[in-house]
Amino acid sequence: MRSIVNLSMVVAAGALGLMALTSCGPRGNKPNVELIQDMMESPAIDAQEYDAGSPHNRGMRVPPDNTVPQGFEPYAYATDIEAASSKLKNPLAGQMEKDILVVGQRFYDTQCAVCHGFKGEGGVEGKMPVSEKMALKPPTLLSDKIRGWTDGRLYHVITMGQGVMGPYAAHVPQSVRWQVVNYIRFLEKQAGK
Ligand code: HEC
Repeated sequence: MRSIVNLSMVVAAGALGLMALTSCGPRGNKPNVELIQDMMESPAIDAQEYDAGSPHNRGMRVPPDNTVPQGFEPYAYATDIEAASSKLKNPLAGQMEKDILVVGQRFYDTQCAVCHGFKGEGGVEGKMPVSEKMALKPPTLLSDKIRGWTDGRLYHVITMGQGVMGPYAAHVPQSVRWQVVNYIRFLEKQAGK
């Protein structure tokens, strides 16, 4: 009986010693040994995952009311295309340098070309997989109509959408939206007239 007590004491002392060892900070550049993990790695919720503990069980949280991400500028012309058209000035107007066009093309090719075509030719029948399925074919961006638009009006349609075309503000960030406008102007130049 006595020897059993002694043995369990030895085991407990050994476990305590191990805990003391493993709870000290990282040694040099080597990560700590995590024998008892407890809260060392908290389980992160993945985007789109069900979360029993959050409102509406959404893994992703809605930002608090009246807050904006750092560096974000609220769009002043959301409900007024005419004001956007006349007041928004393209800070990169006429700049067709490669570094600007490359950025514009990257976003145009991924966000717009599926409908408007890689050259802005529009949803020509049988050409682009998405526009092919659409009843209302996405119009060409090389038309006299769009050539006559101000850059601000183009910027507005990318930001807010138009008719059956949804807004692309979330896909084409503010920081590159004028580059996309310039790239459309570049496509128009390429098409001639
Ligand atoms: C899912 C297909 C689709 C995508 C993607 C799309 N558009 Fe559109 N776009 C349309 C359709 C359809 C219209 C016509 C909408 C209407 O007037 O009801 C349109 C209209 C426009 C117009 C106005 C054309 C006119 O003659 O009135 C412009 C400019 C435009 N889109 C630019 C863009 C740009 C730039 C992008 C990428 C950021 C983009 N679109 C992405 C389908 C699309």
